[in-house]
Amino acid sequence: MTTASSQPYILAPSPLSGLSLSYALANGADAHEALRGLAAGFEPGWGTVGIGEPLTRAIGRQIPGLRPFPAMSAPGCGVPSTQQPLWILVAAADQGGVFDIFRKVEALAAEAFVLTDSMPTFIYTGHRDLTGYEDGTENPKGKAAAAAAIVEAGPGETGRGLAGSSFAAVQRWEHDLDHFNSHPEKVRDAMMGRRRRDNAELPRAPATAHVKRSTQEDFDPPAFMMRRSMPWATVWGQGLEFIAYGRSLDAYERVMRRMAGLDDGIVDASFAYSRPVTGGYYWCPPVRSGKLDLRILGLQV
Ligand code: HEM
Repeated sequence: MTTASSQPYILAPSPLSGLSLSYALANGADAHEALRGLAAGFEPGWGTVGIGEPLTRAIGRQIPGLRPFPAMSAPGCGVPSTQQPLWILVAAADQGGVFDIFRKVEALAAEAFVLTDSMPTFIYTGHRDLTGYEDGTENPKGKAAAAAAIVEAGPGETGRGLAGSSFAAVQRWEHDLDHFNSHPEKVRDAMMGRRRRDNAELPRAPATAHVKRSTQEDFDPPAFMMRRSMPWATVWGQGLEFIAYGRSLDAYERVMRRMAGLDDGIVDASFAYSRPVTGGYYWCPPVRSGKLDLRILGLQV
């Protein structure tokens, strides 16, 4: 079974608290040793690890399907690429748990990696975005979730270390909640394409509505992905740490392009109250015997 070897938080229910961390390789660090140390020391129960193209590049290897996040342009704002070598989502039941795991991750990463970004994340009132709308409703379930998010063992792949892995798109959106909430409820519902009150899909939502732009079945082939986004909030701002897992990065990228209006000029209403401020693509290695399996990178632990 492929799913047995995927990192646990990709398909399991979201933890209540998280910490989204980005790391660069430390100057002078040996990338092979850095990766070997990470694979030997990281416990899958701590969260999810994603390896970016800059890190595979540092050891002269490639993961089929992994590429740097492509910057795009949307009217009035950019869709930036802030691609980093390494992304770790620490996951725990509460902030205390996150703190304990973060200390262990830092001890593990300290010599070889430099922290470049960190954002505490949380689950808001029953999996709602901070706008108040339920997020994740149309995620594929059960076997369909695994099929969307996890790379299957294919011919010639078994033993190569790709089966059981996943690809993550990680993109921080910063909301202007005052602006969003200045609109009457009807307008807000039309921006999302769903009613906040009961989460029902609006039968006649405008073409700009977020769920109209992102309907997974409207793509050919369908753009199914597993969204495990988490809200973030600090004293200076708030938004959504958008996290989507896929068996490839293509589903996310096609939806993102359509949201930005690059397909047909129609821009997703999300851009009317929010904007992306980070963007990275990561390969989430499979787990073998309780350790990250980096055989595809030529590393045995
Ligand atoms: C401001 C940032 C975003 C917010 C607040 C947001 C929120 C939501 C909400 C409330 C829904 C409806 C319920 C659900 O099915 O989950 C939804 C659906 C969806 N979103 Fe987003 N989203 C954001 C960005 C994105 C991005 C960047 C992508 C991918 C590029 C994306 C992909 C999807 C998909 C695929 C669906 C399901 C559509 C369907 O098949 O019906 N979202 N989102």
